[in-house]
Amino acid sequence: MPLNWVEIDLAALRNNFYLAGRLAPGSRIIGVVKSDAYGHGMVPVARELEKCGAGFLAVGKFHEALDLRQNGIELPVLVLLGIEPEDAEEAIRLGIRPAIFRLDHAKMMSEAARNLNMPARVHVKLDTGMGRLGVPCGNLAAFAEQIKLMPGVVVEGILSHFAEADEADRTFCDFQIERFTEAIETLSRQGLPFSYAHISNSAGVIGLPRAHYHLVRPGIMLYGSHPSGGEGDGVGLQPVMSFKSRIMQLKEVAPGHPIGYGRTFTTQRQSRIATVPVGYDDGYFRALSNKGRALVRGKSAPLVGRVSMNLITLDMTDIPDAREDDEVVLLGRQGDERIAAEEIAGLGGTISYEVYCAIGKQQRFKFFLNASGGERPA
Ligand SMILES: Cc1ncc(COP(=O)(O)O)c(C=O)c1O
Repeated sequence: MPLNWVEIDLAALRNNFYLAGRLAPGSRIIGVVKSDAYGHGMVPVARELEKCGAGFLAVGKFHEALDLRQNGIELPVLVLLGIEPEDAEEAIRLGIRPAIFRLDHAKMMSEAARNLNMPARVHVKLDTGMGRLGVPCGNLAAFAEQIKLMPGVVVEGILSHFAEADEADRTFCDFQIERFTEAIETLSRQGLPFSYAHISNSAGVIGLPRAHYHLVRPGIMLYGSHPSGGEGDGVGLQPVMSFKSRIMQLKEVAPGHPIGYGRTFTTQRQSRIATVPVGYDDGYFRALSNKGRALVRGKSAPLVGRVSMNLITLDMTDIPDAREDDEVVLLGRQGDERIAAEEIAGLGGTISYEVYCAIGKQQRFKFFLNASGGERPA
């Protein structure tokens, strides 16, 4: 029995995927599974999304795409961070599509395509205002002219990324959508055909129907969190990840007893203190020291003292029926109570994305619940 573990509810993942499909009815879905599916486990998540009917998958790095192929995932895969020269031929052979934002990268794809006598499908990444990766809008026409001269390169798609689609004020999104639309027209004028335009992340899927185009790229909403940081926000998302452990030791402690490193908490009353084998090494933020909480027997127990590398301490005094070996929920639901990633993020000064990545990355034990037989709702 592991000391702590993550549970991934694939039925919740399916719910969120179908919800994205209903919100963007005219578009196909690129399931964003980069960074180990935001800590949820890339291969099982990808398998489930494939069964649900995703059109594409998106990863950050080429090795993630390889991992998908090595595990039998056949969907077209987009590599958001592009590609290194040594990987070009393998990418083409395996149907892996790099985002392209540099002409020398496009040239190496062309060379690899000629060597293999196979088309090199790429998606041109455009910077419409984020200021990170992407061809600057003003350079797109010249970029397209050069690409047209590269045999074997097939521009399958054009993509961009929103800087603040999760904010209530949509002014900058409108600006980016306008530039993206102009870019699509530029490619048509240049005589560079492509099949797919895509710019919408989860926030775009939920709140910007005019930006859905042919494909949408939801990430965080598939994992059950709203991109704005509000829990669920009435959209019907279901959290996918739970993080659990058990009470390792439960003891009576007299008033005035210090708890943990630095003695930052001292019992004020006769107390029952549970020690639980979870710490910052497990991705549970140290910032939750004396602030977090956990669920035991369906009730909330405050975290007292500091979070250490492998242990936390909970005040169980108000849950008198708690026993050693009881299940402890650090993230997720128990009975009628729930601890959301947004709550942990708020206490840790971060966002739900980082909570999932941090916990998911550290877990050797991940259990996948409710895998489908591949059914799709009517
Ligand atoms: C290029 C790109 N598209 C889509 C996404 C998915 O974004 P979200 O998780 O907010 O839906 C990301 C995530 O960071 C991204 O980098």
